[in-house]
Amino acid sequence: MTKTNVKITPANGKLGVLLPGMGAVATTFIAGVEAVKRGLANPVGSLTQMGQLRLGKRSENRSAMIKDFISLASLENLCFGGWDIFEDNVYEAASKAKVLEQTLLDQLKEPLSKIRPMSAVFDKSYITLIDGKNKKTGKTKKDLADQIREDIQRFKKENNCERLVIVWCASTERYTEQAACHESLAKFEKALLENDPMISPSQIYAYAALMERVPYANGSPNRSVECPALQELARELRVPISGSDFKTGQTLMKTVLAPGLKSRLLGLSGWYSTNILGNRDGEVLADPGSFKSKEVSKLSVLEQILEPETYPSLYGDVHHQVQINYYPPRGDNKEGWDNIDIFGWLGYPMQIKVNFLCRDSILAAPIVLDLALFMDLAQRTELFGIQEWLSFYFKSPLAAPGLKPEHDLQVQLLKLHNTLRFMGGEELINHLGLTYYGIVEE
Ligand SMILES: NC(=O)c1ccc[n+]([C@@H]2O[C@H](COP(=O)([O-])OP(=O)(O)OC[C@H]3O[C@@H](n4cnc5c(N)ncnc54)[C@H](O)[C@@H]3O)[C@@H](O)[C@H]2O)c1
Repeated sequence: MTKTNVKITPANGKLGVLLPGMGAVATTFIAGVEAVKRGLANPVGSLTQMGQLRLGKRSENRSAMIKDFISLASLENLCFGGWDIFEDNVYEAASKAKVLEQTLLDQLKEPLSKIRPMSAVFDKSYITLIDGKNKKTGKTKKDLADQIREDIQRFKKENNCERLVIVWCASTERYTEQAACHESLAKFEKALLENDPMISPSQIYAYAALMERVPYANGSPNRSVECPALQELARELRVPISGSDFKTGQTLMKTVLAPGLKSRLLGLSGWYSTNILGNRDGEVLADPGSFKSKEVSKLSVLEQILEPETYPSLYGDVHHQVQINYYPPRGDNKEGWDNIDIFGWLGYPMQIKVNFLCRDSILAAPIVLDLALFMDLAQRTELFGIQEWLSFYFKSPLAAPGLKPEHDLQVQLLKLHNTLRFMGGEELINHLGLTYYGIVEE
């Protein structure tokens, strides 16, 4: 593909958005889209709905709404479905999640009640602290993957969808190291037949999605498409994948602040982060195995931004700790505290305190929307495999093997914007700016 021959298939017809896990994040996303469609609220936080893209030279004063610049599925053309271990429809699940006000949910009761979760692939050894009745059974993990494939095909047909995307919004599975069955597609497919315990439910969904040529994004920190076997499948069948772990709340702030400190070469001796969270996500994360997945994802960010090997005197000895405590009274309204110990000129110490009273699912919902629309765009543009330009949305962004992921939010945004310009046949922006001063010719 070159700059001049990018072809984008138009976003005609309905786009089905399928969500494994229909809890707080998924229902806040779906209810939010239905509210926006009815003019009840604005899609704040969504680049696809509210973002502008600068085009051409600064002197041209040219920009466009992203959704007008590039062909994206419209909200009216979205259609929702998913899987959960609980049978609640989206209206009931959203009411229980208590993220959105009941008065708003009641206005959306009719469309939300119609969306019922399909039965889930679930394995108690991966998520220990919750269980439900709405589960599939199968002799082998291959049988379970085939059942998910049938669900996908049936949903597409019954809802008359042109295209589908899948965004994993289910609970965080326990931490796993990469195992032999993850090393290649051949080993993975053999392991599906042999019921290898190292294949997680999220990997069964991911495998089924890719086999159906459906783009798959992973919103949790657990290993799903984050293995060579499924990345091989994505490349072979030319399907886009992205992940992992939605970048919201505390980590979002970290990837704004840490690059700022590093830009000015201010040193860092410690970063202590703690959170209280009272929703079901918090309940699941009270299990050490699930928390370990989250911890690894949250901890990786600083090291990759600060590059201690390049700046050992500034970042070679950073004490970075992250804690999440399950505290039911707060529900979805998380509170995070950060104490940041920095040092400046001649090593003089200073401190920064951040107290973020955020709403987890309110921050995550626009990410689900943007990922659904951009993953669909990627497929219509014939991009496949890892979508690094979507790193902007993730705490642990996937990158090609051997490549360090980019964590700096502003660099991630630049990459996303330039990818859209590339797709739309516009000049890429490198911010050199010397042409404005006649030093470099146009
Ligand atoms: N909200 C945020 O800011 C944020 C940020 C980053 C990542 N995440 C991740 O997003 C995910 C969803 O968060 P949430 O707050 O909606 O959690 P939640 O507990 O409200 O919802 C998760 C749902 O997944 C279901 N589930 C669990 N295992 C399943 C399976 N195998 N198949 C189908 N359904 C399954 C649960 O029953 C539950 O309804 C979590 O993994 C969380 O770590 C959230």
